[in-house]
Amino acid sequence: MDGKLAILGTGRMGEALLGGLLRSGWATPDQVWCTVHTPERAEYLADTYGVRADTDSPAAAADADVVIVAVKPQNIRSLLHDIAGSVRLGQTVISVAAGIPTATIEKVLPEGVAVVRVMSNVPVLVDEAMSAVAPGRHAGHEHVEIAERILGHVGRVVRLGEEHLDSVTALSGSGPAYFFLLAEAMIDAGILLGLSRDISTELIIQTMVGSAKMLRDTGRHPVELRESVTSPGGTTIAAVRVLEQERVRAAFLNAIEAAKQRSEDLAGS
Ligand SMILES: NC(=O)c1ccc[n+]([C@@H]2O[C@H](COP(=O)([O-])OP(=O)(O)OC[C@H]3O[C@@H](n4cnc5c(N)ncnc54)[C@H](OP(=O)(O)O)[C@@H]3O)[C@@H](O)[C@H]2O)c1
Repeated sequence: MDGKLAILGTGRMGEALLGGLLRSGWATPDQVWCTVHTPERAEYLADTYGVRADTDSPAAAADADVVIVAVKPQNIRSLLHDIAGSVRLGQTVISVAAGIPTATIEKVLPEGVAVVRVMSNVPVLVDEAMSAVAPGRHAGHEHVEIAERILGHVGRVVRLGEEHLDSVTALSGSGPAYFFLLAEAMIDAGILLGLSRDISTELIIQTMVGSAKMLRDTGRHPVELRESVTSPGGTTIAAVRVLEQERVRAAFLNAIEAAKQRSEDLAGS
């Protein structure tokens, strides 16, 4: 990248981004200034990644061309007030804080500063995030592109209008929890059938990884892939009948709609 990057709030998410950006070579340690709340955490980041790290967010923001805000949503307002005097036109501010609208951020920062909002998910920790990026009022194509490039180093990225981010939160933001729940239930089923927990866990996790890879890499529709393993009068269709009788499909539709509603409620509160 050209210029300097500040990561304000370098916790799990911030560190995942930092690691991805340095590994890919997109940024070098001397271009990055990370801030945190506790000096011990700053020392860890400086020792591990060779970046500048401390607790001085206003100074880091003033020094940067791109400012990533990665504190918890409950800390973002006080952080923004701290850095408002250091942020200037021409910088790109990228917020990864879940549920915080760009308008809330724009209100605190100087008028006209470009803000891009990101909704990512927990597989960012293993460089397999699904992220959506949405421009705020003053963000142009070039600002969104910077966010896409940054998030592209830790997974996949789509660009959407901000009005869709509650849906993204419900689908891919909370999505890993749905898959973890499914894994847990299937592992329990293995135990019910008399397999050990270890074996059952190995069978299910590899089956999930393999199925996910097929979905992503073949580009074939899920229905097509499911039909390819559902032979007439066979075992899979016997299980599918029970899943349909138990209204699992309807449960997913209702659950994800409820998550979107909750996301809207939280954003309004
Ligand atoms: N974790 C994920 O997978 C994930 C996924 C999608 C989105 N997000 C979003 O990412 C954001 C961060 O989540 P997280 O899980 O990474 O939280 P986290 O691990 O708690 O990290 C937050 C970091 O912010 C630092 N901090 C707190 N107050 C600060 C301040 N005033 N100035 C500078 N740094 C400050 C903390 O420092 P100390 O460590 O010194 O206390 C901590 O390192 C959230 O808004 C969340 O919605 C996270």
